[in-house]
Amino acid sequence: MRQSQYFIPTLREAPADAQIPSHQLMLRAGLVRQVASGVFTWLPLGYKILKKIIEILREEMDAIGAQEFLMPALNPIEIWEQTGRVEAMGDVMFHIKNREGLVLAPTHEEIITYHARQHIQSYKDLPQIWYQIQNKFRNEPRPKSGVLRGRQFLMKDAYSLDSSWEGLDISYKKHYEAYKKIFNRCGIKFFTVGASSGAMGGKQSEEFMIESDAGEDVCAISDSGYAANLEVATSALNPVGRIPENASIEEFPTPNAKTIDDLIEQFGFPEDRLAKSVVYIIDSKPVLILMRGNDELNETKLQSAFKTNTFRPAEPQELFEITGANAGSIGPVNLKTNIKIVADKLLQEANGLISGANKDGFHLKNIDFTRDCNIDEYLDLRTVREGEPCIINGSPLRIVKAIELGHIFKLGTKYSEALGARFLDAEGKEHPIIMGSYGIGVERIMASYIEQNFDEAGIIWNKVLTPFDFHLIGLALNKSPDVEEACNRIYSELSELKFDVLFDDRDENPGVKFNDADLIGIPYQIIVGKKNLDNGKIEIKNRKTGTRELINFNSLKEEVLKFNTKD
Ligand SMILES: Nc1ncnc2c1ncn2[C@@H]1O[C@H](COP(=O)(O)OP(=O)(O)O)[C@@H](O)[C@H]1O
Ligand SMILES: [Mg+2]
Repeated sequence: MRQSQYFIPTLREAPADAQIPSHQLMLRAGLVRQVASGVFTWLPLGYKILKKIIEILREEMDAIGAQEFLMPALNPIEIWEQTGRVEAMGDVMFHIKNREGLVLAPTHEEIITYHARQHIQSYKDLPQIWYQIQNKFRNEPRPKSGVLRGRQFLMKDAYSLDSSWEGLDISYKKHYEAYKKIFNRCGIKFFTVGASSGAMGGKQSEEFMIESDAGEDVCAISDSGYAANLEVATSALNPVGRIPENASIEEFPTPNAKTIDDLIEQFGFPEDRLAKSVVYIIDSKPVLILMRGNDELNETKLQSAFKTNTFRPAEPQELFEITGANAGSIGPVNLKTNIKIVADKLLQEANGLISGANKDGFHLKNIDFTRDCNIDEYLDLRTVREGEPCIINGSPLRIVKAIELGHIFKLGTKYSEALGARFLDAEGKEHPIIMGSYGIGVERIMASYIEQNFDEAGIIWNKVLTPFDFHLIGLALNKSPDVEEACNRIYSELSELKFDVLFDDRDENPGVKFNDADLIGIPYQIIVGKKNLDNGKIEIKNRKTGTRELINFNSLKEEVLKFNTKD
């Protein structure tokens, strides 16, 4: 490809609203252009790379026996109503104004289940793995970070259909392995985490993540290999336990203490002995929740412990009615009304605790959970913190930001039940099909790769994703027929060897060419200039290491073959 004829609008500076490296570099290297918030056009160079990623996805999905579909973005809303997801998706789903009854699909469980209902009849028709690489539409509230969070984006989404739970385990494992191969082939350093399956509503679920400040997820990871989304992460922190002295409960005035920190500062209590109380309304019923000191209540954990989406913190007015006090003076003893009380596991059967007295301006000390109040349940409800020992071998947890690249779910029968997709077993009995759902953000692979592989000059592609194998740079071509001829020869020789070469034949000065080459980031630059050529030499630069080697022009073919097989 001759660069003079190829559309690569590189930019010296990234637009100010591009904040993260991948977004800036994708704009600067001429890979994408933004059309509207969260909406992008792929330019030829970017699309070339995207197609390589798509091919890898296709190969690895085909390798596990998955069959490629192409489903429509326009979906009948009716089918989404049947699964209750019009409501669950809320504002994320795009609705169409001038054609009632159609929506833009944010994912495709519904349509897959629709086809399964049409055609799967017997256990003999199963298992199936169906996938597609297709545009998704989601009305993301704050699309930022470039293609990492688009309102229209490509997803490789796959769905497994099985007749048994063991079958689902096998399909899930196949995807897990395929995803690992995909990300390894792309050269992405990733980790997997157990995740909350959120609105999808399912059983087991894992996310494929990369550590990155550009990420919107937060994970706890440790050197032992422990990794979990902060929403579900746990640690090996010991419960606060019991103290030997078990004095009787005592009320004391705390007129100026509204927070845990106030109590620590004013009275010198250790944080471990403070039990913070909050009240939540869960499925319309008030529940008092006790947490250790300043520990943060994790709402995702609360949601899974109570198996409900319907919960909220109590309003100030409700608080007073339920407990007899305002926030800051609430506790598990002498509650005005009889409500359910749960405590975080760190407070399991603890004593010597301090908590609110349910009387404004007063606290109680020497509270013994086994003596003075009735804790209905101890649950894991806290968010882990940096430095806590991990559950594998006690090594310290790090809390890192991460980008979610892929997500695999065991859906179970939620969709097949809602839409009536059933099969007959060997005895002729009817069952709902057991399903799994598996997604990878195609653009996110590219952006994540760039987040992990760039320097101040630009992107650094590996041999798998690079848009071209070599960047041939002719210097002052128009002034030197020798250089031009040499370049033409190199270009045709390399093309004969089936290498894909981008030939910078533009009438630009060397500085511009070098900057663009480093910005675009093709792994090897073959630089042809008059001076070297007069000595029978051409230069090869390794983009990643910056090393340059002079090689004999006449032995180019052999040399180049060597270059392209070593890193
Ligand atoms: N707005 C988006 N822009 C780009 N990629 C996305 C977006 N939302 C999701 N993805 C990609 O699609 C994959 C599967 O989506 P899913 O798990 O359903 O999304 P989410 O976790 O955001 O609900 C994600 O792992 C991610 O890589
Ligand atoms: Mg997800």
